[in-house]
Amino acid sequence: MLILALETSCDETAAAVVENGGRVLSNVIHSQHDLHEKYGGVVPEVASRAHLDWLTPVLREALAQAQVKPQELSAIAVGNRPGLVGSLLVGVNAAKGLSWALGLPLLGIDHVQAHLYASALDTDTPPAFPALGLVASGGHTSLYAVESPLKMTKLGATIDDAVGEAYDKAAVMLGAGYPGGASLDKLAQMGDAKQAPRELPRSLLSPESLDFSFSGLKTALLYSIRGFPVGKGGAATFERDIHALSDQQRADIAAAFQEAAIGILMTKLRRAAAKMKADGMAPQALLLGGGVVANSLLRSEAAKLGQKLRLPVHLPKMAYCADNAAMLAGLAHHRLFAGEADGLMLPALPSSLV
Ligand code: KG4
Ligand code: ZN
Repeated sequence: MLILALETSCDETAAAVVENGGRVLSNVIHSQHDLHEKYGGVVPEVASRAHLDWLTPVLREALAQAQVKPQELSAIAVGNRPGLVGSLLVGVNAAKGLSWALGLPLLGIDHVQAHLYASALDTDTPPAFPALGLVASGGHTSLYAVESPLKMTKLGATIDDAVGEAYDKAAVMLGAGYPGGASLDKLAQMGDAKQAPRELPRSLLSPESLDFSFSGLKTALLYSIRGFPVGKGGAATFERDIHALSDQQRADIAAAFQEAAIGILMTKLRRAAAKMKADGMAPQALLLGGGVVANSLLRSEAAKLGQKLRLPVHLPKMAYCADNAAMLAGLAHHRLFAGEADGLMLPALPSSLV
């Protein structure tokens, strides 16, 4: 089965063709980072207009690279949730048009669920189930008990920022550039957390909690960089500004942030594995997905955790961590195989259904 998928949920316009749920024939991504950089974040209206401009060339390129003609496709998939609704609508309507014109089944795919499928692309070793899943991205930080690619139960989620969002804000505070996660990761690799002026807190909520919180870490980081607030109300300022720090000090603070943020993820994974075991559903594998899984420390710490728990760790290849359409096409294969399909009334939804 050959599935073409479209992804327009945020600031990447992407299309991919995947064969039989695993073999990626093409994975084309046009990132809008340059358009949003000057605003320091994604501007929804700008994003949806750019999707309109880029979707057709990206789609043509995906078919050309895969050497597949539209008539050879088995189905059209599209990320229809969660995301910016104006952006999602571009992909959803294009997918409906293709489905109708080509007479092919249409499959709406949950972007968060698809991130957990990304590690199954271009590999000969599919995960064993039940698995413990962690989605760590710019919009989500959630743990799941995963029974199959299509069946998962949420065990916990962030109560404030997603970890990628915390990375992006930390990068702004540290003047590390846009988009923040990857540049902060690079800066942290040049630093030494032990040399940072203070240890950063790892908020774990209650001892049993499988939820996450990153807002306290962000505030502590701000104080590490700029000192404590001075004055009150509109006149409040800080003891110093970022320029008071040397490049090495910035790198050391970045390393302290990275250790704390990734440390929180690892602690919660360990807790969730114990919880699944106690509930009689011992995990057989760890599945990770989302943009933050490109992080150097997260990848090495997850491998160590897997060894400790004696569980295989499934990390997506770097090309499939951040937003892409291949993960959608791969997951869509399982829906199609199960005889599922959506109609032309398929909605674009702001929230995930998992
Ligand atoms: O999955 P994704 O592309 O989009 C969402 O679904 O949100 O994730 C994007 C997030 C951004 O917050 C970005 O800063 C973060 O992933 N990210 C990283 C790294 N590369 C991307 N965070 C930490 N370390 C990285 N190397
Ligand atoms: Zn994503």
